[in-house]
Amino acid sequence: MPSTQQGTQESAQAAGAALPPSFDIDWWTMLTDPEYLKNPYPELKRIRDLAPIHYDAASGIYFVMGHKEFAAMAKTEAMGRDTLYWANGWNSPENRKNDPDTYELFIDFQPQMINANPPDHRRMRGVYDRAFRPKDMARYLPMIRQECDKLLDQLPVGEPFDFMAAFGNPLPHRISLKLFEIPEDMEETIAGWISDLSWLGNIVMTPEQKRNVKKSNHEFKEYVRGHLDRLRKNPGDGLISLALAAAEDGTMDEEETLNNVVMLISGSKTTLTLLGNGLVTLLKNPEEFEKLRADRSLMPRAIEEMLRYEPGSSIIPRAGVEDFQLGDVCIPAGALAIGLVGSINRDPARFEDPDRFDITRKPNHHSSFGGGAHICIGKALARMTTEVAFNALMDRFDKIEQAGEAEWWTDRSDQRGLWSLPLKLTVA
Ligand code: HEM
Repeated sequence: MPSTQQGTQESAQAAGAALPPSFDIDWWTMLTDPEYLKNPYPELKRIRDLAPIHYDAASGIYFVMGHKEFAAMAKTEAMGRDTLYWANGWNSPENRKNDPDTYELFIDFQPQMINANPPDHRRMRGVYDRAFRPKDMARYLPMIRQECDKLLDQLPVGEPFDFMAAFGNPLPHRISLKLFEIPEDMEETIAGWISDLSWLGNIVMTPEQKRNVKKSNHEFKEYVRGHLDRLRKNPGDGLISLALAAAEDGTMDEEETLNNVVMLISGSKTTLTLLGNGLVTLLKNPEEFEKLRADRSLMPRAIEEMLRYEPGSSIIPRAGVEDFQLGDVCIPAGALAIGLVGSINRDPARFEDPDRFDITRKPNHHSSFGGGAHICIGKALARMTTEVAFNALMDRFDKIEQAGEAEWWTDRSDQRGLWSLPLKLTVA
């Protein structure tokens, strides 16, 4: 369980800030309960109906459940992603004494855009922002189609197989390797590093996971250091050239350069959740699936609905830079607040009939890519990958059927995805 924030809270109360009402929720038991993780939505609805913002006295963390409230929190500079502002948090001086290994882990990972507040955030994100716009990403469409086709060529027809192992997991990794000009024979090693590193977002990590994260982070960064060195003489005009130019002209120091490249490659892990969560949701809603088959122009809206309905990122944090009044609640400087995306995306105050999967939903302002300055830089890439993949699947196969129970991850509270999705494909 994360460390307590008693001091922060006391100072906020001394300043007259109201605490959200307390409802006796055992947050950490709930968020890690495998039954909750299989289907978190009924419990999230129950808690959101009580109040849009909650305070967990045991951990000192605020939980933001409402759409309006999360949008305001994501937008303000009074709350940022720099966890150094989280008083008594992982990379605080207290934690350095109490838990030096975890402290070191987070300090090592710290200097990069996802952990930075302005102006450092703008400085680092500015290096890549342009290249990740839909218009600029479109140059990679032929490569994405090619990687997708290579995997589709190998799928068995007429017999059950696991969609995640054969297609959902490898596709985003392969695209990432191509984007960063990494040789194909590194696929397995890099997928292992990404998988280990992804535990950093889970808040609660076992000692073994911490050891793996530390080792993989070190090895991944060393690999990227060597990769950049190898390409320095002939940088081309891809994403690696941006990293090299930013290191060369001093926009980023070496740690920032390495951490950002590692993070940008690791972003592929979340796209695999969209592929799996999206497909299983279509299969559970055959009328919507048929509607999409019949009218492929609905694909972009269908993908937004998949993102809203079954988001891959379950929690989005912010740390208080200064006191921030959010509705009736003041989130004090130094506090950690977590947006629970599964609740935010089904807030009836924002979405009509929120538990209905409706591929024609419009508007659809979900929060699956976060919000404000930190909104996911890879969102165009994720959308493009998914659009190519689902169109290609439907082009090739006349029937796409579920061939057994899909298994949801039940060992992590920060991301929602599938261990397996048994599928059977038929060609007429
Ligand atoms: C469906 C796929 C994806 C989902 C659901 C997703 C989700 C998110 C979320 C929730 C955030 C945090 C936003 C916030 O704090 O407000 C984020 C940030 C980020 N994502 Fe993604 N992501 C996806 C794909 C990708 C891909 C493919 C990449 C790689 C290019 C990527 C790279 C990043 C980076 C670098 C950040 C930090 C941006 C910043 O701090 O400015 N993501 N993503």
